[in-house]
Amino acid sequence: MTQDEMKKAVAQAAVELIRSRLSADSIVGVGTGSTANFFIDALAELKHLFDGAVASSEATAERLKGHGIPVYDLNSVSGLDLYIDGADEFDAGLNLVKGGGGALTREKIVAAAAKEFVCIVDASKRVDVLGAFPLPVEVIPMARSLVARELVKLGGQPELREGFVTDNGNLILDVYNLEIREPKALEAELNNIVGVVTNGLFARRGADVVLMGTENGVEKVL
Ligand code: 5RP
Repeated sequence: MTQDEMKKAVAQAAVELIRSRLSADSIVGVGTGSTANFFIDALAELKHLFDGAVASSEATAERLKGHGIPVYDLNSVSGLDLYIDGADEFDAGLNLVKGGGGALTREKIVAAAAKEFVCIVDASKRVDVLGAFPLPVEVIPMARSLVARELVKLGGQPELREGFVTDNGNLILDVYNLEIREPKALEAELNNIVGVVTNGLFARRGADVVLMGTENGVEKVL
């Protein structure tokens, strides 16, 4: 099985998982990335069963609309039952690193608004300790160097994601060399640096369930 086949299988499994929870007034939170794209394509088959979606990025909004799924502003809905999104890494505590696609801030907002976060990944995303994948940090452009110096003090090695601007008009610093043994504490510490919009650690609000595509099928990790 290729990585894409595993992503597709797990996206299909997520649709099966949520199918019975969809009703005519349901609005689903939808993440960003290649796995989320497979999910959107599979979700489109069920578009007659729910009202619409809240998107975590402009790219996701476009894909949803392309399938004829109405996209709502988060401010116009009172809350979400479900958020479905991929991740770059997850650990046994269902803490995540996200933001490989640069959509971490909106992803974190939509995840925070949802009662349940279903994370969909292929098996390559499982790690014992988070941090092998460089941790994305979204920063206000004028604070780029200031934040980078603070990240170095914490033992990280920040690199500007060249040529990339987030949907919010900000920059991304990808931080190498972090061995993240206390994800909740580090998430809070990074968010306390002036100029940081948010960081890609999803630990204070991690996943509630991870569906992981493997060579032998889809596993549910709780
Ligand atoms: C985007 C993300 C994605 O969920 C993460 O990068 C995983 O992407 P993919 O499903 O393409 O492997 O956080 O900001």
